[in-house]
Amino acid sequence: MSPHAQIAVIGGSGLYALLDGATEHVVDTPYGAPSDPITVAEVGGRPVAFLPRHGRDHRHPPHLIPYQANLWALRSIGVRQILAPCAVGGLRPELGPGTFVVPDQLIDRTTGRAQTYYDRGAVHVSFADPYCPTGRTVVLDAARGRDVAATDGGTMVVVEGPRFSTRAESRWFTSIGGSVVNMTGHPEAVLARELALCYTSVALVTDLDAGVEGGHGVTQEEVFRVFAENTARLREVLLDAVAALPAERSCPCRTALDGIKLPFDLP
Ligand code: ADE
Repeated sequence: MSPHAQIAVIGGSGLYALLDGATEHVVDTPYGAPSDPITVAEVGGRPVAFLPRHGRDHRHPPHLIPYQANLWALRSIGVRQILAPCAVGGLRPELGPGTFVVPDQLIDRTTGRAQTYYDRGAVHVSFADPYCPTGRTVVLDAARGRDVAATDGGTMVVVEGPRFSTRAESRWFTSIGGSVVNMTGHPEAVLARELALCYTSVALVTDLDAGVEGGHGVTQEEVFRVFAENTARLREVLLDAVAALPAERSCPCRTALDGIKLPFDLP
């Protein structure tokens, strides 16, 4: 049977499985295979999809994740709303390890990643507000309901990686308004918008980045350890949020492509 789900969670570093009793589906796309088979299970009576963006064995580094295939595959099984947890570094001393942030803005510092489906025709999506307003509210409410302090808003700087930033780069990111920094938030967010999907980033701070007072220069070990320490809380918030997402969408993400002539049909 072909899989179907309207909601998906794209798991980040340290979140390679989310759903109990899930069925697994290999999905192909014109952009190649997604990071991993997609698993689907019922949450609160609704089918929900899960896709680990690095693959369950973390074989895809951030700059080589098949972002186009991932978003296309999710849309092709019916997904319209995505929650996207990820590990981030804090760019401000008050955003220390263990803090949750639901960003409302993004600064793209990646280079050379395919970040559009539209290499033909005139398709220019609005990206002024990169995240779904409904998804953000739902996640913040879910965090509150679990007594998890989550910062409402903030700017995510997305770097190319796979290296971490220098102290000078990190100080500069803070000075231009960055709140947190990571390596996978883009082009995931814009590809979701280009498919008229709702996309909500759920950022878990694993370290203070190198330029922040108190930041000693992050290590990979620290990122994975702190993420693992917080996975249980993150999982609770995500599952509550999934159950609370509205069945009908009324946000601007839904109409992102209205009035635009697309060069091909969407899945
Ligand atoms: N992911 C987690 N921590 C990070 C950091 N400090 N910089 C970039 N990506 C990260």
